[in-house]
Amino acid sequence: MKILVVGSGGREHALCWAIAASPLCETLYCAPGNAGIAEEAECVDIGAEDVGGLVRFACDNAIDLVVVGPEGPLVLGLVDQLTEAGIKAFGPTAAAAELEGSKGYTKDLCAKYDIPTGAYQRFTEIDAARAYIEEQGAPIVIKADGLAAGKGVTVAQTVEEALAAAADALEGNRFGEAGAEIVVEEFLDGEEVSVFAICDGESSLTLAAAQDHKAAYDGDTGPNTGGMGAYSPAPVMTEALAAEIQETVIRRTVEAMKSEGRPYTGILYAGLMITEAGPQLIEYNARFGDPECQVLMMRLKSDLLPALVAACDGVLETFDLRWYDETALTVVLAAEGYPGSYDKGTEIRGVDAAETDESVKVFHAGTARDENGLLTAIGGRVLNVTALGGTVAEAQQRAYAAINRIDWPQGFCRRDIGWRAIERES
Ligand code: AMP
Ligand code: GLY
Repeated sequence: MKILVVGSGGREHALCWAIAASPLCETLYCAPGNAGIAEEAECVDIGAEDVGGLVRFACDNAIDLVVVGPEGPLVLGLVDQLTEAGIKAFGPTAAAAELEGSKGYTKDLCAKYDIPTGAYQRFTEIDAARAYIEEQGAPIVIKADGLAAGKGVTVAQTVEEALAAAADALEGNRFGEAGAEIVVEEFLDGEEVSVFAICDGESSLTLAAAQDHKAAYDGDTGPNTGGMGAYSPAPVMTEALAAEIQETVIRRTVEAMKSEGRPYTGILYAGLMITEAGPQLIEYNARFGDPECQVLMMRLKSDLLPALVAACDGVLETFDLRWYDETALTVVLAAEGYPGSYDKGTEIRGVDAAETDESVKVFHAGTARDENGLLTAIGGRVLNVTALGGTVAEAQQRAYAAINRIDWPQGFCRRDIGWRAIERES
């Protein structure tokens, strides 16, 4: 098969790494890719949101399957346009990607189909939002309805903070169109976990669960990021809990989307809070998590590619995937300053030396080669140092041993990825 992966992050490097290992893969392209991906795939200089350019490339090169990494092109309708052009594409249509594209849409769907989630109201007018926030009290959560690059959520500890966040979005135009509507939501207390399922419009195959660390600094402090590290499996996920989530969240959502005439194909990523009242949906994403995908691919024993094709062909029911029981843990090396502003073009050394054996893999996110072939950092999140271990503690120890071999003075990482799971282990 000739395959095109769309995207340029650590998630896409992990996907390319898994797909390149498949005996079914003859040629692998990635648009636009990065320096690590270039070792697995031929990188093509087309942006991930250049829908027209991607469709043209896929047609001109007789691509058999396109795998879409990030949400941007999904919401822009890349899968719709590829399908129209007769090209198989893994990912939801724009209509189905509304599950990530509009938080209000997802909340209404949950209400209609009895999918457990926090109480909420949608608002476009500040006066009505203000009245509801004052009536509910704090803590309370304010969310921009649309895509806001992970910055659209405020978990407000006080009513004042909540009112300010609502005003910022509705009156201050802080998130542009994405914040012209907000969802005001009940604060959910508990431990967070992410569940990933492959869907084919009718049925779903739940993959492993994972947990990530969104805060920039140790102790889960500091500003929110796209994710500073992750691990899988998630010790909080018992078999009973997994079965409950499969039934009340994943299966119900796939059925609901089918009933709504928006059958869901691709990865369904459920962000959940495990509360005293049971699992509650925080949000849906229409793609793999980044860096959660990296730990899932590290644990995957089976060939990923046939499962992606089966999802596109609507025959997922016949499928099963096997996983290594070991824990995979990934630590993000980010540029000093991230998630704020940071320097680009600094040199990174020692990445090859970090991969001492099969249990360690360094996935690239924001990397490029300069004119002299030197590896340089060009993004905020730059490398994902990933390791397998018999326990979370062992995987963590291997990941940090690998990081210590990497020479990049302008980078930083958290030193406590997996701490909660390690506490449970000991
Ligand atoms: P999101 O951008 O939707 O992933 O939200 C960012 C983070 O905000 C989530 O990972 C949660 O930690 C937190 N969050 C979102 N909604 C709620 C909620 N209803 N209750 C508590 N925390 C929440
Ligand atoms: N790691 C969180 C996300 O991919 O949205």
